Amino acid sequence: MGTSEAMLILSSTGSKLVFSDPCLGKPNSTFSPKFHVESRKRRSYSGYMKPLNCSRAIRSFLTIHKGGASHGNMMFAQSHFLNCHCQRPESISGVTAEDANGALIFDIENESNPFNVVGNGAKPIVLGELQQSEKEKETFTSNGELADAETSKRTFRKACVNSIEEEAWNLLRESIVYYCGSPIGTVAAKDPTESNVLNYDQVFIRDFIPSGIAFLLNGEYDIVRNFILHTLQLQSWEKTMDCHSPGQGLMPASFKVRTVPLEGDDSATEEVLDPDFGEAAIGRVAPVDSGLWWIILLRAYGKCSGDLSVQERVDVQTGIKMILRLCLADGFDMFPTLLVTDGSCMIDRRMGIHGHPLEIQALFYSALLCAREMLAPEDGSADLVRALNNRLVALSFHIREYYWVDMRKLNEIYRYKTEEYSFDAVNKFNIYPDQIPPWLLEWMPNKGGYLIGNLQPAHMDFRFFSLGNLWSIVSSLATVDQSHAILDLIEAKWADLVAGMPFKICYPALEGEEWRIITGCDPKNTPWSYHNAGSFPTLLWQLTVACIKMNRTDIASKAVEMVERRISRDKWPEYYDTKSGRFMGKQARLFQTWSIAGYLVSKLLLADPHAAKILINVEDEELVNAFSCMIGANPRRRGRMVVKKSYIV
Ligand code: GLC
Repeated sequence: MGTSEAMLILSSTGSKLVFSDPCLGKPNSTFSPKFHVESRKRRSYSGYMKPLNCSRAIRSFLTIHKGGASHGNMMFAQSHFLNCHCQRPESISGVTAEDANGALIFDIENESNPFNVVGNGAKPIVLGELQQSEKEKETFTSNGELADAETSKRTFRKACVNSIEEEAWNLLRESIVYYCGSPIGTVAAKDPTESNVLNYDQVFIRDFIPSGIAFLLNGEYDIVRNFILHTLQLQSWEKTMDCHSPGQGLMPASFKVRTVPLEGDDSATEEVLDPDFGEAAIGRVAPVDSGLWWIILLRAYGKCSGDLSVQERVDVQTGIKMILRLCLADGFDMFPTLLVTDGSCMIDRRMGIHGHPLEIQALFYSALLCAREMLAPEDGSADLVRALNNRLVALSFHIREYYWVDMRKLNEIYRYKTEEYSFDAVNKFNIYPDQIPPWLLEWMPNKGGYLIGNLQPAHMDFRFFSLGNLWSIVSSLATVDQSHAILDLIEAKWADLVAGMPFKICYPALEGEEWRIITGCDPKNTPWSYHNAGSFPTLLWQLTVACIKMNRTDIASKAVEMVERRISRDKWPEYYDTKSGRFMGKQARLFQTWSIAGYLVSKLLLADPHAAKILINVEDEELVNAFSCMIGANPRRRGRMVVKKSYIV
């Protein structure tokens, strides 16, 4: 087992004054471009013979102090540093009663329900009901002023929507987590009705992405910069599961700020960051998506704030390279897609997505493109950049060719010959046509298509996975035609994929024997619930970015209107259940931060679609050329592909 140790050295000389920082004993200090973090690593391989329970024994906290940080075992000499004796984060929450909104509020919800109260006591509006109001119609028509009625209705709707947005901002601010006085993330959910918080009180990397984007679009850059830099420190953490360590570049799924008593001083406390890399997570899955999202957010931060000094820092460049090395490492794979275990992304429990799930491939592709933009040119990373470029070409070819299904392709698969042994096989993965599920033969629209969920030898997972498809559009992993076709399919299958609440995480649900075997009888993932085809409002923001990229914002606007009819009244649930999405999820948390932030990001982007460029990867001309060379290398397109030259930018 390897051990690692890192040292964080802070130089406060260039601190920018922004936030109140009780730890540092001076007002308003936070990270600044001049804030240096030096990470020293030492790996020793002498400890391989540690007993099996060593992961518990060595699990410890990252303690960041003014002037330095100890990393790894708390026995390290903390006293060498000036510790940060912080207040509890709650006591320095940024939202006060005075901050809350005074917008137009209509009290037609159940007044006695304490959870309707947000901010300074404003009650959310039941927009759907108000829109339908018979009384309202009567009043308008009896006056015979239809045009005026329409105008009033529009004004009224606008006021309702403004109020929902204000509520969302208040809730988002209430979810902020502070570390030593500075904002560093948002909790997954702040549900006052739930006594069993599990890990929803933690800052999840993937959950923070829409929060971070909302803050960026609102010109609030510090929380995102702090998040990026602190999670970077956690990347070097010693992580083990029964004495086995995953790769060095792994980012945690989540982290928590804990307030612990200061050693040797009972009257004082200090704050520590405690990450979870999956060693405590349900199912013990490593979050492959965390590092990929981190890279995507880092680029968005630079593009939005104009502050490139963060991505240029040596430790940040090292962090990017560590993630890339982990993803680009050679293994046994024949495919350019990333091979991962079940539950390694947003779907973080068993759902039969192990192998090469689309979501991870889309994030991987996006992160490779983002990283390429940010990597400083230097001799030492030439090999890495070459590997990255080769992977981009191979990955896009593989996904566009083999994951794509539409009527034409489905008909081709339907007539596949099997057991072909040759380089020229048409049915390369030996897919048996009987594998095409009966639902798909009916479901596939004449116009439209999508990328399937997963591909393995003799196995195509034909389920539609939303995030993977949407992010393939955003990242240009899908071609322009494919991207339009995915949106065509979403329109054609609106009643299935959106129904009463955008957006189904996947379609259709696993049922009966399939559910038993594939989910392991998971009672949380029963058919049409949660990961098993439940509806997640947070997916609205990825839908919006995809629609903006393809210049089809009407689709996103329609989805946003649908959300506005219910989400505030329902108290911003984590997910919805049933085929029609009519029910709030069986075990859904209320006030789930990424439902709130996802809505805000959609609204902000629809108001200013150009801002979506911080997330979009435009199709790279050189990649397109390399791609057509690969196809051109073999006129049959399905034969053995020979790339004569490495693709080097
Ligand atoms: C659940 C979800 C996961 C999310 C976490 C926090 O575990 O499956 O995707 O990150 O909750 O919201």
